Amino acid sequence: MRILVTAGPTREYIDDVRYISNASSGRMGYAIVQAILHAGHEAILVSGPVSMTPPVGCEYHAVESTEQMMQTCQALFPTCDGVIAAAAVCDYQPKSRVSGKISKTGTAITLEMIETDDVLAALGKMKDGHWILGFALEAQNERENALQKLRRKNCNWIVLNRPEAIAAENNTVELLDNTGQTVAHWTGLKTKIAEDLVAWLEVNSG
Ligand code: CTP
Ligand code: CA
Repeated sequence: MRILVTAGPTREYIDDVRYISNASSGRMGYAIVQAILHAGHEAILVSGPVSMTPPVGCEYHAVESTEQMMQTCQALFPTCDGVIAAAAVCDYQPKSRVSGKISKTGTAITLEMIETDDVLAALGKMKDGHWILGFALEAQNERENALQKLRRKNCNWIVLNRPEAIAAENNTVELLDNTGQTVAHWTGLKTKIAEDLVAWLEVNSG
């Protein structure tokens, strides 16, 4: 299999030196890439800025903004069998980016934000024989929200993740299918979950 993996946070710049982002470590996505390679498959990693180095042997594409992640993923998607979307993509971006550096004025400022484009939903629209596995980070109504996301983004499966997961080494997740059934349940180190996930895909993605 040739598998596209998104990982890490994205960044949305306010001016040339400041940005909005989130606390994603990229660990889950990088562990998945490692597990894909370990199982003898090809991995394409599209990653926002993280402190880890990309696993040796993957095809690595560094991106910063959501728009860059979108363009890179849309270009690579047709060459892949499936996608695992583990990135913590920014949901909002400043309405406009100021060139240079905003100076202090001594008064409060307001930043107007607009929604970013949804990378996973865009890939869902391009689906043509691919399988797609999304992630859902949910703090309440977890299962309903995750299932709605799966449907909205045209995924085959979605990993239900909780906010404690974002920068941790360990995790507890469920895999839901498009009927809302839990088809797998994994807990432990993210590296172990990644291996279980890839082993599950080897059996069930065909
Ligand atoms: N995702 C994406 N592009 C975005 C937002 C999310 O590709 N602009 C992907 C994530 O990588 C993940 C899935 O969509 O695989 C769900 O992300 P999540 O943040 O849980 O859901 P959102 O649709 O962004 O909704 P919300 O944050 O409001 O719950
Ligand atoms: Ca989101």
